[in-house]
Amino acid sequence: MKIDGKDWRTIWLERDGQSVGIIDQTQLPHRFVTARLATLADAAHAIKSMQVRGAPLIGAAAAYGLWLALREDASDDSLERAYAALLATRPTAINLKWALDEMLAAVRNRPRGERVAAALARAGAIAEEDVAINKAIGRHGLPLIEAIAARKNGGRVNVLTHCNAGWLATVDWGTATAPIYMAHDKGLPVHVFADETRPRNQGAALTAWELGHHGVPHTVIADNTGGHLMQHGLVDLVVVGTDRVTAHGDVCNKIGTYLKALAAHDNKVPFYVALPSPTIDFTVSDGVAEIPIEQRAPDEVACISGKTRDGRIESVQLVPDGSPVANYAFDVTPARLVTGLITERGVLKAERAALAAAFPERSA
Ligand code: MRU
Repeated sequence: MKIDGKDWRTIWLERDGQSVGIIDQTQLPHRFVTARLATLADAAHAIKSMQVRGAPLIGAAAAYGLWLALREDASDDSLERAYAALLATRPTAINLKWALDEMLAAVRNRPRGERVAAALARAGAIAEEDVAINKAIGRHGLPLIEAIAARKNGGRVNVLTHCNAGWLATVDWGTATAPIYMAHDKGLPVHVFADETRPRNQGAALTAWELGHHGVPHTVIADNTGGHLMQHGLVDLVVVGTDRVTAHGDVCNKIGTYLKALAAHDNKVPFYVALPSPTIDFTVSDGVAEIPIEQRAPDEVACISGKTRDGRIESVQLVPDGSPVANYAFDVTPARLVTGLITERGVLKAERAALAAAFPERSA
């Protein structure tokens, strides 16, 4: 997508052919900074510290991370260590494991001398596939917005989204945002309510930033606002991303998604989830019982950072000294609350049969 007229992706092979470039998302929205990953340690740190985040981008970054590890040492031992180190960076988004397994399959049975080139080719392909998948998600999701626009006779289509499932969370286009960008680019009057998404504020910081740079009308709302807006008919459609979808269509996504799904259900607002197929985990049936929920540092809840009036970035403490805090990063929305899953192969029911029929090669 574009930033000030220039095309960007979130991750790229640097011109030196030996390192990987990323947008450092911990600096957004107040500073646009890129960073260079040259080693396995750089890649693992970038994922863990959330310089790169969002399920599909985590997968692509891990793939390049494995390539960087093999550049240092292409032995079996190094491959195993790099796989384990990258897998341990974040537990919830299944795209991480998917991408690492793809990389392993691409290099494991090759002689050492061929592994580096094979790893780079597969990592590059994973990044390209993500872009193509997200464009397809956009094409399948667009008619949902078009139908509402037609029903409203050209009136504004209000889409509520949670966290950042935009192009910053992927290699390009985003998942939940792909239909939104396509609708906007077609001239449809689409407007986005972006949940701020405490504790790390991916909605306020990242979704608002990328929508703003593309010119999509949007409004940032405090996390607890969605239910009120839905009761007053101000939300036509909810579209969120996801970090893992079970074989039965349960959806794990950023903490707070479940409450939005409940509010949408109560108010008969359609609740859609946009996902690339690598986000489906056919090994898991019951999302609430089985998906590991990341618990992050207490400071993310206890403190908040932002720009002071004189332009400095500062972090301040919100809670009393000594108050314990809990920081659950994700929750699970049961399939029964999901209107549909927008995938690269069409809009599916959140049911095992529909997922298995659309992705037989993954479900087997
Ligand atoms: O903790 P994050 O910022 O990595 O969480 C991201 C989300 O929860 C996104 O909504 C999800 O990964 C879908 S991204 C296309």
